[in-house]
Amino acid sequence: MKRTVTCGELSAANAGQEVVLNGWVHRHRDHGGILFINLRDRYGITQTVVDQDAPAELMAKAEALKMEYCVAIKGIVQKRPDEMVNKDMSTGSIEVVVKELEVLSTSEVLPFMIDGDSEANENLRLKYRYLDLRREEMQRNIKLRADVSYRTREYLTQQGFLELETPTLIKSTPEGARDFLVPSRLQAGKFYALPQSPQLYKQLLMVSGFDKYFQIARCYRDEDARGDRQLEFTQIDMEMSFVSAEDVYSMTEGMMKHIFKTTLNVDLNLPFKRLSYHDAMNTYGSDKPELRFDMPFKDFAEFVPGSEFGVFKSVLDEGGAVKALKVPGCAHYSRKMITDLENIAKHYGAKGMAWMKVTAEGLEGGVSKFFTEQSQQIISYLEAQEGDLILFGAGPWSTACTSLGAVRSQLGKDLNLCDPNKFEFCWIVDFPLFEWNEEENKWDPCHHMFTMPQSQYLETMEQDPGEVKGDLYDLVLNGYELASGSIRCHDSNVQKRIFDIVGFDPEEAKERFGFLLDSFQYGPPPHGGIAPGLDRLVMIMCGEDSIREVIPFPKNSVGVSPMDDAPAVVDDQQMKDLHLVLNLPEDKE
Ligand code: AMO
Ligand code: AMP
Repeated sequence: MKRTVTCGELSAANAGQEVVLNGWVHRHRDHGGILFINLRDRYGITQTVVDQDAPAELMAKAEALKMEYCVAIKGIVQKRPDEMVNKDMSTGSIEVVVKELEVLSTSEVLPFMIDGDSEANENLRLKYRYLDLRREEMQRNIKLRADVSYRTREYLTQQGFLELETPTLIKSTPEGARDFLVPSRLQAGKFYALPQSPQLYKQLLMVSGFDKYFQIARCYRDEDARGDRQLEFTQIDMEMSFVSAEDVYSMTEGMMKHIFKTTLNVDLNLPFKRLSYHDAMNTYGSDKPELRFDMPFKDFAEFVPGSEFGVFKSVLDEGGAVKALKVPGCAHYSRKMITDLENIAKHYGAKGMAWMKVTAEGLEGGVSKFFTEQSQQIISYLEAQEGDLILFGAGPWSTACTSLGAVRSQLGKDLNLCDPNKFEFCWIVDFPLFEWNEEENKWDPCHHMFTMPQSQYLETMEQDPGEVKGDLYDLVLNGYELASGSIRCHDSNVQKRIFDIVGFDPEEAKERFGFLLDSFQYGPPPHGGIAPGLDRLVMIMCGEDSIREVIPFPKNSVGVSPMDDAPAVVDDQQMKDLHLVLNLPEDKE
């Protein structure tokens, strides 16, 4: 009773053949003397039927079947009468008349239905993940994940990349999150860190002369889990020698084109758009703008001096910005709807969100009364039309932009502006190399400390670190940061100057990644790379909004796996072996 065909492949062309199917009882219906059993495996569903002519013993066996029993069925493929053809099923033109039935294993009553959309709560789904994964949607997502990995390997291998492993018990990698630590038994009192990324090792591989490296690499970061973040996740990690940023862009674009074509049959247009960090913030209020719809901001400063609106005037006096966002066709928005949007802006630090509406008479409502004399100029400057709503963000440049950007994103969702079949990639380039850390009163690296400044800033970078742009880039897809990378600093002198600017003690540098700096004394090649997040890529391709939907066994939002109860207490002997004693806060003892 070993399967001769899968549950997804039979068609009218197989009529008359004897076949064996193995799978799970997906549905089980008794139509008064005729039993329909829908059998499912990962390839599809096939309807089988035990008809009136079946021997009593077979009928009894079939009647005893329950949902999710695992069974083998031998039978004859039969074309369905025209009126019975099910167009929604790939196998809908046939059914299999059961001649022999064997129960391979039985199933308890299920904690939730496998069929259809699961409304089950997520912790229940994760507790019984092996059942949750049987659902059609999860089967599709996980299959796509495997296909994406395979096509990635295929493309990069064809391009001459070597797939190399780097260790996962390492010394800390500086990606900026908290490390997961693993206590060493053999080296009492010492700890390995799990890699936040293979960053240092891939750079060392460049020093070793493996000029094109990739790895589908597990990364570990002890940070708060969110929709697009997990404690452990996977990167398509790449590094190349003797390249410029342009080479990294074209290699990544070629890889994405190959992946999308071979898995989803989607043709991506190359090259991808590019936006500078400044323009992305200034026009969309985000360094990962959703570009499936446009709705850019416009600078509104020129209309402020001629108005009497004190809020905008004082913002400009203090060197801030006033940005206008035109929302086409939304003049009907109620006070409450506008207040809801304003609350989003406030959540992102704005003090408020001024607004006005465009009507047949001109500008109306909200702060329009301050702008009556300029209303025609404003309407034509914003290319606004009757029925549009205009929203304003005012404040320090980055607050004005990010808060209005959050409102823009929300409107994109509320107004259904994002076509689920569209994939809008965009490179964000010209990031600053350093960002000012208000709390600690110092410069921090924007990406990581191994990024090269753009060459025009090399001589003078100490004079105004805030102005220095790095040779670093992000790839954004549908409003998510999909990948980050940079051209690395392979010059120890420049590296030392960067450490100085961010106040990184040379002794600490030596202690933490001296091995990388040492290697740079032996003819390091110029090199650079990138790392797209595999989970995020597959999540977006599947149209999901949580990466948990594309990871077979993810952790929940508090870092727990409800199925196996990781993390767990370990026994005293293990603690002794590892030379550890617990020092728990009182409420956890
Ligand atoms: P970065 O830290 O930006 O860069 O990470 C690169 C990409 O990895 C994905 N990613 C995550 N996915 C899920 N859960 C997380 N917690 C998580 N954190 C990151 C994102 C992100 O864009 N070593 C550098 C790359 C380089 O410079 O080559 C790095 O790790 O998709
Ligand atoms: P007020 O004068 O405080 O009543 O504000 C008038 C309008 O301006 C209200 O719609 C506020 O939400 C809005 N507003 C106040 N501060 C800001 C700001 N910093 N940016 C944008 N709009 C603001």
